[in-house]
Amino acid sequence: MPTATAIAHPNIALVKYWGKAPGPGNVPAGPSLSITLDTLVTQTRVSIADRDALYIDDAPAEDTKVRACLADLRAHYPIAPLRIETSNNFPTAAGLASSASGFAALVTAIDHACDLGMDAATRSRFARRASGSAGRSIFGGVVALSGPEWTATPILAPEEWPLQVVVAITHAGRKNVSSSVGMRLSERSPYYPAWVASTAADFTAARTAVMDRDFSRLAEIAEHSCLKMHGLMLATPPGLLYWNAASTACLHAIRALRETGSDVFFTMDAGPQVKAVCLPESTPRVARTLAEVPGVQRVLVAGLGDGARIIES
Ligand code: DP6
Repeated sequence: MPTATAIAHPNIALVKYWGKAPGPGNVPAGPSLSITLDTLVTQTRVSIADRDALYIDDAPAEDTKVRACLADLRAHYPIAPLRIETSNNFPTAAGLASSASGFAALVTAIDHACDLGMDAATRSRFARRASGSAGRSIFGGVVALSGPEWTATPILAPEEWPLQVVVAITHAGRKNVSSSVGMRLSERSPYYPAWVASTAADFTAARTAVMDRDFSRLAEIAEHSCLKMHGLMLATPPGLLYWNAASTACLHAIRALRETGSDVFFTMDAGPQVKAVCLPESTPRVARTLAEVPGVQRVLVAGLGDGARIIES
């Protein structure tokens, strides 16, 4: 039976995607820029089978987004029924971008198992249609996702700027409001038009800061994009509040670290975990400090990783 196993890593957006263009195809309302991590991994094995079946961590599962992704692929390629077995080495659906690595690994494994012959841009487009951020996890290092094609493109390879990320886990449960639902709700925020209109300038400025390896400038842009997105969320009736007390304490701790000489900035997504992006010399101090913030359950450290790839077939 044809089989393929792929791995992919989550990515963390420094300029956020939060909002969809009208119409079908899960087209983002604005561009985004991310870094792909290395130590966090989704592994997905796909085998041709008698009927479709999904297993997450060895347990049978149902997932409407996986179903939709398979339907989308089958509208373009002849694909047999598939057995899909997937697992993460980090908390799922907790604001750690498990859907990004999940769909990047899934599309990559299906392409290989079914011999579809997709190039990376095509895999990125199908992954993005399944979950916007997943289009970026096809690639490693620093990655951009912008129109008009809305397939991701790599900007820097991991070794070209070896940033590190300390993830402070403040609550490992599943989030209450998924990103897809939260984005739709945010269209009702009075801030939504301003958010969409201002994202292109953040994206262009962040891309320039990355090309220049200008950490301080990237710190300003990324913290602004993050806080602007959370401002939009807070102003979304009845209020999308993903932070807890420990998240807020981590944000203050990271700013205090920066004021006392560490090269670090924060970002957060649709969950209470805090991601501290560091230059490598600053990582040990940042990790030590965040581990001691009350309410932080544990910290994970990652460098920049590679894109989705086949590890066995
Ligand atoms: C806050 O990619 O999970 O992490 O396209 O609806 O599946 P869907 O959304 P998703 O949203 C990610 C939102 C974010 C910011 C980002 O990764 O850019």
